[in-house]
Amino acid sequence: MPETISSWLFWLFIFLGLVWVEPSQAGNTGRAKNAPLNFVPSLSEALQSFSAVIVTGGSSGIGKSFIELMGKLHPGLTFCNLSRRPPAIKISGLKLNHFACNLSRPAEIAAATAAIGSFLAQVAPVGKVLLINNSGFGGYGHFPEPQLEHQLEMIDVNIRGLVDLTGRFLPLLRARGGAIINVASTAAFQPTPYMATYGASKAFVLHWSLALNEELRGTGVRALAVCPGPTATDFSKRAGLQLGSVSPALSMTSEQVVEISLRALASGRAQVVTGWKNKVTAFVGSKLPKPLVARVAAKVLARYQLKQVRK
Ligand SMILES: NC(=O)c1ccc[n+]([C@@H]2O[C@H](COP(=O)([O-])OP(=O)(O)OC[C@H]3O[C@@H](n4cnc5c(N)ncnc54)[C@H](OP(=O)(O)O)[C@@H]3O)[C@@H](O)[C@H]2O)c1
Repeated sequence: MPETISSWLFWLFIFLGLVWVEPSQAGNTGRAKNAPLNFVPSLSEALQSFSAVIVTGGSSGIGKSFIELMGKLHPGLTFCNLSRRPPAIKISGLKLNHFACNLSRPAEIAAATAAIGSFLAQVAPVGKVLLINNSGFGGYGHFPEPQLEHQLEMIDVNIRGLVDLTGRFLPLLRARGGAIINVASTAAFQPTPYMATYGASKAFVLHWSLALNEELRGTGVRALAVCPGPTATDFSKRAGLQLGSVSPALSMTSEQVVEISLRALASGRAQVVTGWKNKVTAFVGSKLPKPLVARVAAKVLARYQLKQVRK
């Protein structure tokens, strides 16, 4: 009997977790006035009021999938991508413009944002603007391995670059209406030993995005924090993890992550954790005492195999 009770309690806990980790944003959904309460527009409908998308990290993984899926759903969108490499995407008619930018360099951010501002004023002067802060990377090892410089660059790209870009584009978004998607991670919900700087940088992104979203209520702009778990991209390789460190059973595709993100945007959420397995991990990670979670996370992450980090 006690086992049955504890089993029920466990599932109740999990259920509450699923509800808790995805708070929707009543009153800030952008829902049409007469639409029924549970109205969620299709992904295509939800994107129609946008004319331009500014995305970081469209050269690979999740950022590339954002451009590919949104380009198919709304071919009229103008995309401005910021990354060091140009995105290799071949979709006929796609309005994709690349602005080369290393987000760890403030001068390059200033130049790219000014160029995008003038470009959009000419080619897409009206309609909502979607800013997707997606660029980011991690690094696996005992701090400060692989190099202190690498850790500091991570903070520059994952945090400073994201805050800088958002600050520079927010006046444009406020003037035209729009939304911001900030790509955080399930690493945001607990300390991540051996990826200490990465996890902490994503905790910043999550909390900053949620706070910004509240500040933006009533302005016609909102922010969504996306928290993917392991996703099959170049991320792990670049972070220095051996292939196979993360079980394929726990991994999602970048297309799945993007579709879930766009659904969350359409339904006016402030935060979305991708997939039920990640929801459970995020719930447990955020509810248990932090020192205990750090201990457990250290045991799990210590098993990952270190490979040379690629910058
Ligand atoms: N994959 C996962 O398991 C996972 C899980 C949770 C969260 N995330 C987050 O998802 C986001 C996208 O990562 P991903 O999985 O798609 O990895 P990815 O395939 O390695 O893509 C990372 C993107 O970030 C860009 N980037 C890295 N450093 C940059 C810099 N200095 N300046 C400008 N852009 C830079 C890269 O562009 P260039 O190299 O061309 O500059 C690339 O397009 C990241 O924020 C990551 O933290 C990933």
